[in-house]
Amino acid sequence: MNDTPVSRREFLAVTSTGAVAALAASGLAADTVLTRNAGKLALTGGQPVRTKGWPGWPVWDPSAEGDILAVLRSGNWFRGQGTRVTEFEKRYAELLGAKRCVATASGTTALVTALHTLGVDAGDEVIVSPYTFVASYNVIFMVKALPVFAETDPETFTIDPARIEERITDRTRAILPVHILGLPAAMDPILAIARKRNLVVVEDACQAWLAEYNQRKCGTLGDLGCFSFQNSKHLPSGEGGAVVGNDEQLVDRCHSYHNCGRAFGSFQPAGGNPIRGTNFRMQEFQAVILMSQMKRLEADTQRRWENGQYLTSRLKNIPGIVPHKLNPGTTRAVYHLYPFRFKSEQFGGVSRNKFLEALSAEGVPCAGGYGPQHKDGLIEEALKSRGYQRLFSKERLDRYREENVLPRHTQLCREAVWLSQNMLLGSKEDMDDIVKAVEKVYENRDKLA
Ligand SMILES: Cc1ncc(COP(=O)(O)O)c(C=O)c1O
Repeated sequence: MNDTPVSRREFLAVTSTGAVAALAASGLAADTVLTRNAGKLALTGGQPVRTKGWPGWPVWDPSAEGDILAVLRSGNWFRGQGTRVTEFEKRYAELLGAKRCVATASGTTALVTALHTLGVDAGDEVIVSPYTFVASYNVIFMVKALPVFAETDPETFTIDPARIEERITDRTRAILPVHILGLPAAMDPILAIARKRNLVVVEDACQAWLAEYNQRKCGTLGDLGCFSFQNSKHLPSGEGGAVVGNDEQLVDRCHSYHNCGRAFGSFQPAGGNPIRGTNFRMQEFQAVILMSQMKRLEADTQRRWENGQYLTSRLKNIPGIVPHKLNPGTTRAVYHLYPFRFKSEQFGGVSRNKFLEALSAEGVPCAGGYGPQHKDGLIEEALKSRGYQRLFSKERLDRYREENVLPRHTQLCREAVWLSQNMLLGSKEDMDDIVKAVEKVYENRDKLA
């Protein structure tokens, strides 16, 4: 079974075009083939459920052209000379109901800024969800701390709060829950643990713009929340990111850190640069694109949410298909990816990869998603490095390896199936095509074993 994470490019490459090309090459009129092959899987030469494409992404808004040109012609491309990044920060904070925002170069740099500013330091430990993109734990290594993975709840695809406390040691400084795929993590129990154990919480909301938990936006519930605006994201600008928070002084320090440690706002120490800092600044062009993309975000988000709920209501009736559950308290999931679990036993032993192939051939692109990231090779590489051998005792690192066993998470990685966010921008009929294709594969499962 292939547990390798699938890149967006690979994901999108799995489209119905192969099936369409095969049909054209057969020399038969489409309706002839349709009648003859009704019910036969596209993978075995039948007519695909769908030959139409899916909504494209990103969607470019021509109204942004004038603003981009104005920035270009002004020569003020850097935020220190322009006004657009500052304006975006204000508007994004307002949109989320957060007090403040600092725009950054990426989601990764937003996370580093948040961890550093909250005092996560060399030799600390951070509890993190393993069902996530590599950046969520890479950033912990970047601040020279140890990412400690807590078990995933396979029903919700998010960190299991009941399995966090067993991972806390006297070095633990932070919890980094991830609202993965746009599904809000169980923030109430996570925040309760953090309060009880005196830990800070950095939300990785890099896939969760406008997702809601108890009617509050994800990213505004912990000490700081981080977002990505990379090209595939619901609010895209090629690259980009943001840190949001409600503690003005803390966000001022984030701003300072992302701007070479210079004084900012309430952070006005006398003389020189009193804190370490770096350059994680966003460009003016990115802010213009983001403000233009923000115009469509709410309507798109609502559509994905409605289509996602509709898919769940239909897919749950198909044997062997287990839709994700939403954590109690979720008031809106935003589906950067729509996930369900595939149970091979109920598909007569058909492998997940075969299922993915068959569904893709029906015109429904899909992917298997993240592999067991807690076994990512970069972890051993870090643990064996000179720095980590100095920062952590041999006993701690041996115990870390011993305990880094997550059977439920690993099983989820074998069973997950993802549909990408752009598909959820389609119509109800488009969602019906997805359901029809899954049903068809189920009905023909004996032809795939
Ligand atoms: C969950 C998660 N965290 C962090 C990141 C990092 O964001 P960026 O690619 O903007 O650095 C991503 C990006 O895909 C992500 O999906």
